[in-house]
Amino acid sequence: MAPTPLPMEPTGWFQVAWRTEITVGAVHRMKYFGREMVAWRSASGRIAVFDAYCEHLGAHLGYGGHVEGENLVCPFHGWEWNRDGRNVCIPYESHPNKGRRIRSYPVVERNEAVWIWYDIHGRAPHFDVPDVFASFGDDKTAHDYYPPVPAATLYRQRLELHPQYVLENGVDFAHFKFVHKTPFVPTFTRHDFSGPVSFVDFTIAFDAGVAENDVNSGVESINAGLGCTVTKSWGMVDNRTMPAVTPVDDVTSDVRFTVWIGREAGDDSPEITAYGKTMAAYIIEQFEADIHIWAHQRYSDPPALSRKEFDGFTALRAWAAQFYPDDGAVTDPDRRPASQGRTS
Ligand code: FES
Ligand SMILES: [Fe+2]
Repeated sequence: MAPTPLPMEPTGWFQVAWRTEITVGAVHRMKYFGREMVAWRSASGRIAVFDAYCEHLGAHLGYGGHVEGENLVCPFHGWEWNRDGRNVCIPYESHPNKGRRIRSYPVVERNEAVWIWYDIHGRAPHFDVPDVFASFGDDKTAHDYYPPVPAATLYRQRLELHPQYVLENGVDFAHFKFVHKTPFVPTFTRHDFSGPVSFVDFTIAFDAGVAENDVNSGVESINAGLGCTVTKSWGMVDNRTMPAVTPVDDVTSDVRFTVWIGREAGDDSPEITAYGKTMAAYIIEQFEADIHIWAHQRYSDPPALSRKEFDGFTALRAWAAQFYPDDGAVTDPDRRPASQGRTS
């Protein structure tokens, strides 16, 4: 299996943890985009994500660093860094070092997850992490679903797959029958690739060729860049899902999948029930069937598309290109990656 030819440092929001994993005072080590990082939560509950190394003499803050109030304290010489990565205290000097800053990432907690904004050029976020309830414009909230973490989640580390593979599912009508063993072919009702947040909806008829009014279920999905998708299913088991793929290095990615199952009528138990777990397990099993393909496929470019597949895949791949560092749409010469400006 060859490493993917697609760039593994796309721009966007990427899940790096579930919120409950980063407790107050915790300093959590992780590796994404080929970089050592730490996530930590201050006394007031605010979260920050840094590159892992202290700007003083380079200690790894994830090995013995600790949180004091709103700052992260280095284990080596006690320098203190605030959430923005600014040095605010050198314990044996009267002034902090105002010039040095640890790289800190824009971070958002939403949908039970922690997201960082990654951009190889350090540009600020230009789109948002969608809300798994509010962004679908309906009145359901988290209270209408069983709490998903950790019982209704899947976490697979360091698989040889690229975030784009997962997004291609959104135009791939033909795989349902073969990968998911479902007796239907979905009908796409919306493919909107006009912005960095794209929308894909489809309906499902359980008997090919039935009339429009026999359509009894469907799926809507919102794709915020390549790393963050939320879905809403209607007509079947009432559920929301959130697949999230985050590159670890040039070859592998971590995959997280979170499933919200709609509560049974009248059930307001604080924990997910046996019913909720059974339904979530079924949905997770379907997602694992996809992962089994993605983790072993070789990205095909150009692919041998059928006539019916051509428009969808072409649109999806054109949309995905905007998140890659050598995106031709970057017109400001000062923002071009060095490789584009080189003449030799
Ligand atoms: S290396 Fe962090 S304080 Fe010295
Ligand atoms: Fe699938």
